[in-house]
Amino acid sequence: MRTVLTLVVVLVCSSPVRPGFLEEDQDVLIPDEWSRVGPVGPSEQLELTFALRQQGVDLLGETLRRVSDPDSPQYAKYLRLEEVSSLVRPSDLTQKVVRRWLQSHGVSACLSVLTRDFLQCTMPAQVAEALLPGARFHRYVRDGRSQVRSSAPYSVHDEVHQHLDFVGGLHRLPPRGQDVASHGRNRHPKPGLHLGVTPAILRARYNLTASDVGSSQNNSQAVAQFLEQYYHAADLAEFMSMFGGSFPHLSLVDRVVGTQGAGRAGLEASLDVEYIMSTGANIPTWVFTNPGRHESQEPFLQWMVLISNMSALPWVHTVSYGDDEDSLSNAYMTRINTEFMKAGVRGISLLFASGDSGAGCRHLTKEENCFRPSFPASSPYVTTVGGTSFKNPFKMTYEVTDYISGGGFSNVFKTPDYQASAVKAYMQTVGGGLPPLTYFNTSGRAYPDLAALSDNYWVVSNRMPVPWVSGTSASTPVVGGMLALINDRRLLKGLPPLGFLNPRLYKLQGEAMFDVTEGCHLSCLDETVQGRGFCAAPSWDPVTGWGTPNYPALLAALLDQ
Ligand SMILES: *[C@@H]1O[C@H](CO)[C@@H](O)[C@H](O)[C@H]1NC(C)=O
Ligand SMILES: *[C@@H]1O[C@H](CO)[C@@H](O)[C@H](O)[C@H]1NC(C)=O
Ligand SMILES: *[C@@H]1O[C@H](CO)[C@@H](O)[C@H](O)[C@H]1NC(C)=O
Ligand SMILES: *[C@@H]1O[C@H](CO)[C@@H](O)[C@H](O)[C@H]1NC(C)=O
Repeated sequence: MRTVLTLVVVLVCSSPVRPGFLEEDQDVLIPDEWSRVGPVGPSEQLELTFALRQQGVDLLGETLRRVSDPDSPQYAKYLRLEEVSSLVRPSDLTQKVVRRWLQSHGVSACLSVLTRDFLQCTMPAQVAEALLPGARFHRYVRDGRSQVRSSAPYSVHDEVHQHLDFVGGLHRLPPRGQDVASHGRNRHPKPGLHLGVTPAILRARYNLTASDVGSSQNNSQAVAQFLEQYYHAADLAEFMSMFGGSFPHLSLVDRVVGTQGAGRAGLEASLDVEYIMSTGANIPTWVFTNPGRHESQEPFLQWMVLISNMSALPWVHTVSYGDDEDSLSNAYMTRINTEFMKAGVRGISLLFASGDSGAGCRHLTKEENCFRPSFPASSPYVTTVGGTSFKNPFKMTYEVTDYISGGGFSNVFKTPDYQASAVKAYMQTVGGGLPPLTYFNTSGRAYPDLAALSDNYWVVSNRMPVPWVSGTSASTPVVGGMLALINDRRLLKGLPPLGFLNPRLYKLQGEAMFDVTEGCHLSCLDETVQGRGFCAAPSWDPVTGWGTPNYPALLAALLDQ
């Protein structure tokens, strides 16, 4: 007790409170779609997540480069979570200072993680507001879902400023789901043509035979979902009985991590599970669902915390989640990137949907617009998946750009080495056909990395087959399942899994991929660009990446080392 009291004196009296902001550039405006219910009562409990400053981040980056570069002697020599922990664990000083600061405010109900770099603490709202000067917690609702957030920026005491990256649970409301929609944007099919994308169509297009299914004991794959919607086991079973006739498969999810609510099934939730289990057929599948249990938590951040706290995880994770890059603080994105690196050095592949708004559009002034990249799609440490459609939507022809396919250039992260020559070659190929340079940043990380069909899917949701479901949240689990299949074959051969794929993918130079060379994606509807973003071109492009996988060729290319 005495130590705690002494600390209060030290913090409050000896140094004047000089608060500093950790996320000055974070957008704190509450979007209009959320309506304010009112301030949170002073004694209501909040759960906040403290991201402690890590050590060894440079070495972590260097390690990731080595273990994912096929030309490095360290290739695929992955670390266990315990080893990652000894690399990045915050210093004893950092841990002590942050703990004392929390305790001096009476906050002691904290959970840590194996890597010691997150603390998740419960405290009354009035304590949180005293701890984080500037923060004012209010409750907001959208579509019946309520969240607690601060509409004003927070600061932290000078003493802890250098020991924290950011505090989670104050800003960043969950974005709406990517625009997974069932909309008849296509004409009615003529007789004799296929009626939309099903597992059989995907498996035929990407050359998967009935024997291309999982059989390794130690393989698994996962989808992560952060929307207030759920997959239903009965829908998955129904889907597999309707569409799984031609290949061996599983019809049950192996493990659900998180809370599955009782609500109606969501299209997106159904889509992810049904399709990762159709290309990654016969591979045990996990679903991470709504890891944010409390109104003040950020579900995506909670998923990252969970990944950092579980030593046994599936090798492949697909995620359909994204936010406008310009709405997020640098501190947050930089730290999330470090979390991606932590997963990468463990041999875990993270696949993100590139988004469904093409190049996106941000209104700078009344007359001035630019494209709007999305994060984590724009992270250099994940594999980002774009979308295509069949040239003739109802025939298994070659693939062209799906105009919704998210893509472009980060304004925050530099072009990583692995893609520098691919991006340069694209610029040269397209030359004068590029959008105006005021719309995007040629020195940024360019995405997506590859693509798959994203248009005109069949999904079973709430026991009903639903046609015309579209979006990159369809293409991402399809690619994820194929990577998990390649991992399966590697594991059977005694090889490690693929881990962070990009350095190896870019070295293939498009080998084993169906190049997508036609079509442009959408962007700002203004006079300058007239709704057009980037266009596909031979080889890599910021619309469909390297194109779509020719499974047997990709397997052959990735089945050694
Ligand atoms: C991390 O895992 C450990 C051991 O399973 C558990 O005690 C701890 O509460 C977990 N941390 C969080 C933040 O959930
Ligand atoms: C794979 O599919 C393409 C197009 O559907 C086809 O041309 C090719 O011969 C198939 N087989 C292999 C082994 O690539
Ligand atoms: C699966 O993993 C366990 C523990 O990591 C290992 O002992 C076992 O040999 C592996 N099995 C196969 C078939 O690779
Ligand atoms: C362009 O990207 C670089 C990093 O790649 C960044 O430093 C710079 O600020 C960006 N420019 C704009 C206008 O966003």
